[in-house]
Amino acid sequence: MKILLTGAAGQVGGALLQLLQGRANVVAPTRETFDLSQPAGLAEKLDSIVPDLIINPAAYTAVDRAEDEREAAFRVNAESPGVIAQWAARRRVPLVHFSTDYVFDGSGDRPWREDSSPRPLSVYGESKLAGDQAIAEAGGPHLIARTSWVYAATGANFLKTIVRLAGEREQLRIVADQIGAPTSAGAIARAMIAMLQPAGEDVAAMFGRGGGIVNLVCAGETSWHGFATAIVSGLQSRGATFAVKQIVPIASSEFPVKAKRPFNSRLDLSRLRERFDIVMPTWQEALDRELDVLKAKV
Ligand SMILES: NC(=O)c1ccc[n+]([C@@H]2O[C@H](COP(=O)([O-])OP(=O)(O)OC[C@H]3O[C@@H](n4cnc5c(N)ncnc54)[C@H](OP(=O)(O)O)[C@@H]3O)[C@@H](O)[C@H]2O)c1
Repeated sequence: MKILLTGAAGQVGGALLQLLQGRANVVAPTRETFDLSQPAGLAEKLDSIVPDLIINPAAYTAVDRAEDEREAAFRVNAESPGVIAQWAARRRVPLVHFSTDYVFDGSGDRPWREDSSPRPLSVYGESKLAGDQAIAEAGGPHLIARTSWVYAATGANFLKTIVRLAGEREQLRIVADQIGAPTSAGAIARAMIAMLQPAGEDVAAMFGRGGGIVNLVCAGETSWHGFATAIVSGLQSRGATFAVKQIVPIASSEFPVKAKRPFNSRLDLSRLRERFDIVMPTWQEALDRELDVLKAKV
């Protein structure tokens, strides 16, 4: 099976590439050769690759910058996924895509289901929602994995930022009123492989029966403050030393950023369990695994 994997230099794409290599013929172009900011050229590129399955974790993920770069975010997150989905639908090539908790407005405290009404608060959230809709409208076999708070031992992300700041400062002030599930790129990739494997060559038929959106996050919930505290104590218990003495919980209003974030990012995992028989690790279990990788690197 020939798999086109975009964004292989990113967190989720990188974790998927690691697991897919050796199991399938993976074509993983860089943004220079498969540029989602140029939707017009993509169909021709796809004609020359002719994949049996497309996995598209590439995205415009600079949430705050997107507030000033609306067009660029929409080109990468909405227009291009739409073009890819239309190409794929015409040939019944299954498409795996990734969505975000930022499509929701964060009201209430109930976990969002796949059919909950989206109401994005940010340009990034709007652009990702438009991508989800364009893929559904194309009408081909597809699966959109909706995830949240993604991190990995490599790359630029919250985990790496906390490790750096904890080494530099005695006090960290971290937002405690946004609640969600930190989800490692590795946990996403392992679950995705487990979803695809039973279908074998017939992913299109499987997505035809049970495609659409599926929430894919680690189990449990915490705040960014809880996540930061677990990162520091997890590394300390592995022998790391830090300058930090205090991690202070603060309100979102005390940490102004350009794009509004949802307070409630909880995603309901029932569909993942019922349709795909997948039970996700808790966010603490996934973090432990990633901290072992991080510790082995330093
Ligand atoms: N990060 C999160 O917290 C989070 C939360 C919820 C959902 N998601 C979604 O999960 C998916 C994976 O996210 P991630 O965290 O793995 O993202 P990431 O680490 O930021 O990686 C994004 C990848 O997309 C590539 N890319 C960006 N613009 C491109 C373009 N114009 N053409 C081709 N490739 C381009 C990047 O290429 P370069 O390497 O060249 O920059 C990078 O490899 C995305 O759909 C994202 O929206 C992420």
